Amino acid sequence: MEIYLDPGALTEQLAIDVRAGLTATPKTLPPKYFYDARGSELFDEITRLPEYYATRAERAILDAHAADIATTTGARTLVELGSGTSEKTRLLLQALRDAGTLERFLPFDVDPAVLKDASAAVSAEFPGVEVSPIVGDFEQHLGRLPRHPGRLLAFLGSTIGNLDPAQRARFLADVRATLADGDALLLGTDLVKSPQRLVAAYDDAAGVTAAFDKNVLTVVNRDLDADFDLDAFAHRAVWDAADEWIEMRLESLREQVVHVRALDLDVPFARGEQIRTEISAKFRRERVERELDAAGLRLRQWWTDPAGDFAVSLSVPA
Ligand code: SAH
Ligand code: TRP
Repeated sequence: MEIYLDPGALTEQLAIDVRAGLTATPKTLPPKYFYDARGSELFDEITRLPEYYATRAERAILDAHAADIATTTGARTLVELGSGTSEKTRLLLQALRDAGTLERFLPFDVDPAVLKDASAAVSAEFPGVEVSPIVGDFEQHLGRLPRHPGRLLAFLGSTIGNLDPAQRARFLADVRATLADGDALLLGTDLVKSPQRLVAAYDDAAGVTAAFDKNVLTVVNRDLDADFDLDAFAHRAVWDAADEWIEMRLESLREQVVHVRALDLDVPFARGEQIRTEISAKFRRERVERELDAAGLRLRQWWTDPAGDFAVSLSVPA
């Protein structure tokens, strides 16, 4: 396993981000800290919830078009950013293997635990394919990716929607900078749809998304010796119609002071005060095309599921 980001460095960043985010108005916490081993498990549960359509829709698209993607790209190396369990990715790996071009798979994720399990599973299923997992931050380390010829960079699950517009512009510029002629980007983007369905997808009846959201408090409690009482916060999912994104927030159910001992920081909360933990932007084709274009990437293909809930696009250096 290649380590671009070790646990010590991640905890140092957590300390900086928690101090900045919890002393700001309004309070925020960055989403990458959801994903310790428990957070990755909870996310895997989210992907199977009846309300969370996105994973099923994206899988249907890959199911229908993986062969096309394999022949169009002829990729020899598949790099997957924010790979998680790499569950849907197997459809791509199978298609590239069937096309006879696949040599190696580089799953890249901030959580070493999920990477270890996913790599073992893919290695077992794809003998002869070199599997080289990388622990890193896709907002910091794309410049360090090995430059094998014929790379397909996959960024699935609409994880790009968890970045704000400025972060997305920087991320896509980093992607463009690492791509050579003959390489391609495969991007999964969730599409704008009814607010009712969106809110349900991010606030499910079984409370799995609520547990996932609160997991960031567990991480801060453990890694920075804080005393967040998880029962004193409630999960909220709010549709922001102007920005076309869902906001996940944790709302303080009472007036309270949380102590973050490793930072020697007291964080006062009013009753009803919220911490913004994540956005999940929803896209239209024009926005995806415009943002790719601004980064020097040209959209070549665009596929949606039959219901038009989700899109997968293929783009190349302009
Ligand atoms: N690609 C999978 C998982 C999506 S969830 C799917 O489509 O289902 C987002 C994944 O990105 C998680 O596995 C999380 O650990 C990882 N992740 C989140 N922020 C990250 C960052 N800044 N750098 C690298 N990986 C990150
Ligand atoms: N990027 C996906 C999305 O925004 C997956 C995801 C990340 C997610 N964090 C989440 C889904 C929290 C549900 C809840 O949909």
